[in-house]
Amino acid sequence: MRLKSLKLFNFRNYSELTLDLSPGINIFIGDNGVGKTNILEAIYVLSLTKSNRYGTINDLIKHDAITSKINCLVDYDGYTKEYEIMLSDQVKKVYINKQEIKKIANYISNFCVTTFMPNDIDIIRGTPSIRRNLLNIQIGQLYNNYLKYVNEYNSLLKIRNDYLKRLNINGNTDLRYLDIINQKMVEVSLKIYYFRYFYLEEINKIISQVFKKIANISNLKIEYANSLNLDSYDENLIKDKLILRYKKNLSKEIMQGMTLTGVHRDDLIFKIDGIDARIYASEGQQRLIVIAYKISELLLFKKIKKEYPVLLLDDVFSEIDLKKRNNIIKYFKDDIQVIITTNDINDIDKKLVEKAKIYLVKNGNVKIKGGVKNVRRKSNKSL
Ligand SMILES: Nc1ncnc2c1ncn2[C@@H]1O[C@H](COP(=O)(O)OP(=O)(O)OP(=O)(O)O)[C@@H](O)[C@H]1O
Ligand SMILES: [Mg+2]
Repeated sequence: MRLKSLKLFNFRNYSELTLDLSPGINIFIGDNGVGKTNILEAIYVLSLTKSNRYGTINDLIKHDAITSKINCLVDYDGYTKEYEIMLSDQVKKVYINKQEIKKIANYISNFCVTTFMPNDIDIIRGTPSIRRNLLNIQIGQLYNNYLKYVNEYNSLLKIRNDYLKRLNINGNTDLRYLDIINQKMVEVSLKIYYFRYFYLEEINKIISQVFKKIANISNLKIEYANSLNLDSYDENLIKDKLILRYKKNLSKEIMQGMTLTGVHRDDLIFKIDGIDARIYASEGQQRLIVIAYKISELLLFKKIKKEYPVLLLDDVFSEIDLKKRNNIIKYFKDDIQVIITTNDINDIDKKLVEKAKIYLVKNGNVKIKGGVKNVRRKSNKSL
């Protein structure tokens, strides 16, 4: 899949912007704070309906506007689809080919992206919720059923936690309702475990080799740290263990008003030679681990979906030495569309620059290097 065009209306620091993109390499150059990341963010939002930055929906809307619209055309082999998102007053609406899609889970997994952004380093260093979110985004883009199960699980979890709190307050000893919720939780947990095991098994088949090629270090593995301490997917074992845990933890859970075991507590550990990379790896190596993971993600996408997602790289090359940069760009095959931002074109390999379409970004305005062909911009026009 390839992004053919992108339109922004009152998004971040852009009033109105229309861009036509190259199916190959696209490089956005500009000084700090001019709006390069905002362009990648808009593409990310069009893919995943949420920003990868902190903040609310309203933070995405240009300061002097009340609504924002982002729109893109995506080329697949032989056909094109239009995606659109309207943002206003903390509400988002998503459309495919002008038709509103009410369930976000039905929208995601159509137009897919893989990113490497500066805050992706939090995948190693941040809290477990960041890694669960990563799992959800990546598996969700591959299989949209997965997100339906995650949503179902989250609703059940809320119901279960509310009921535990009620049990704590009124001391009700009728646990039949809780048993029914537990059964439902087990059913949907099995689906989520299945996807997570399968996905991690597939990623692990790829990541060690990728990491060896870019960093010359072998034995990188992602370990699935789940609260049931399972080594592999085993339906009956998961069922038994989960029910047993619910029983064993009941008084503690009632006291705390929350569910202590389950996929909502899962985590991932990146290990080099069996040692946790968070503790062991240098800052540069941690960055390379994340890049190796993202490249593995690209390769897995191709294997499962038979095409690559669009690759978004936000200023990634500046902190990586030349040799490793070269190792990384070997993975940018001709059938991958890559969108890169940078402060300095010298940070990007010449071979990439030669092939690339270059855009100059200046305070909410984008020009193509060598002309203004394909760039149309009108300022201060409200929706
Ligand atoms: N809702 C908004 N309305 C108007 N402007 C905004 C909004 N949100 C952010 N901005 C502006 O967007 C600019 C930041 O854009 P962006 O993060 O894309 O910069 P950048 O070009 O990636 O910079 P750097 O090279 O430092 O990463 C800032 O000047 C900020 O004030
Ligand atoms: Mg930036």
